[in-house]
Amino acid sequence: MTKSLKVLVSSNDFPESGMKILEEHFTVLKSRYLNFGEEGATKNRDELFELIPGCSALIWVSHHPITKELLDRAGPQLKIVSTASAGYNHCNVPELKRRGIKLTNTPNVLSGAVADIAVALMLGAARRFTENLEQVRSGEWEIGFDKVLGQDIKDSTVGIVGLGGIGQTVVKRLSGFEVGQFLYTGHREKPEAKELGAKFVDLDSLLTRSDFVVLAVPLTDETKHMINKTTLGKMKRNAILINVGRGELVNQDDLYDALNNRDIYAAGLDVTSPEPLPKDHKLLTLPNIFILPHIGSATIATRNSMAVLTAKNVVNALYGKPLLTPVLQ
Ligand code: DGY
Repeated sequence: MTKSLKVLVSSNDFPESGMKILEEHFTVLKSRYLNFGEEGATKNRDELFELIPGCSALIWVSHHPITKELLDRAGPQLKIVSTASAGYNHCNVPELKRRGIKLTNTPNVLSGAVADIAVALMLGAARRFTENLEQVRSGEWEIGFDKVLGQDIKDSTVGIVGLGGIGQTVVKRLSGFEVGQFLYTGHREKPEAKELGAKFVDLDSLLTRSDFVVLAVPLTDETKHMINKTTLGKMKRNAILINVGRGELVNQDDLYDALNNRDIYAAGLDVTSPEPLPKDHKLLTLPNIFILPHIGSATIATRNSMAVLTAKNVVNALYGKPLLTPVLQ
């Protein structure tokens, strides 16, 4: 009976593990991946707009914003948007709420993979991977005992902004690194912090005391540009900023100035604004920044888990069962 219901997946490379669950119950349509700045963006958008009318569920495999226009085009039978991401800043929550459309995301299943990338960025920025890779590529290696010296994680103070699933996993991943002290900040103290040995402080004190500042918070009106000229000015000169949340947490012009003037030591970013970052962007001219192309959750196992979770949320929503990871229900 439910095969009469249509589900649209906004990606033609959505894992088989998720497709199988959906295809058991519904008629599944796929449109090509929609990405920022992608050459085919307009073409892919047209395809999406062509396929969405009459769909009961939308699996959103993109950080592209969900527009009113897309929801209008879908029609009033659209019951759920299931985003294949932990962050849902792109999902237009007020508009979904107004229309009574459910929203689910994929928290927890990606915490390990994203935390791994946070640690990779800490090492990459602290040990100056950008400059070092450049030396290897150019064949011009610096010679000497004090060549390309970096900083240790050992004995450092690591400040986590947002001790949620990802922030907590970063602390666990770093358990072998002999970190001196973990600080964290957020709206309130977390019960898990005690066992992790992390101390709750306010943002100012985290910024002034940390050698590594790790951003692992969602993008909201409150967190947008939380790292700016003023907050960068509070950080230590040897501080390293890590961002695995969203690019818009950071005012990138201010970050550029702080790195260029050596007001802070380095930055490691998995997320930028925009994405992709244009290849002539000024951040890419800096030696003391290590940037990855938003690959936090990009492992085979994690993407499979995300696909399964998004699919199960759709099944539950369309069968009237409780959602597994609700944002709006
Ligand atoms: C998320 O899920 O929000 C991460 O940025 C990975 O896409």
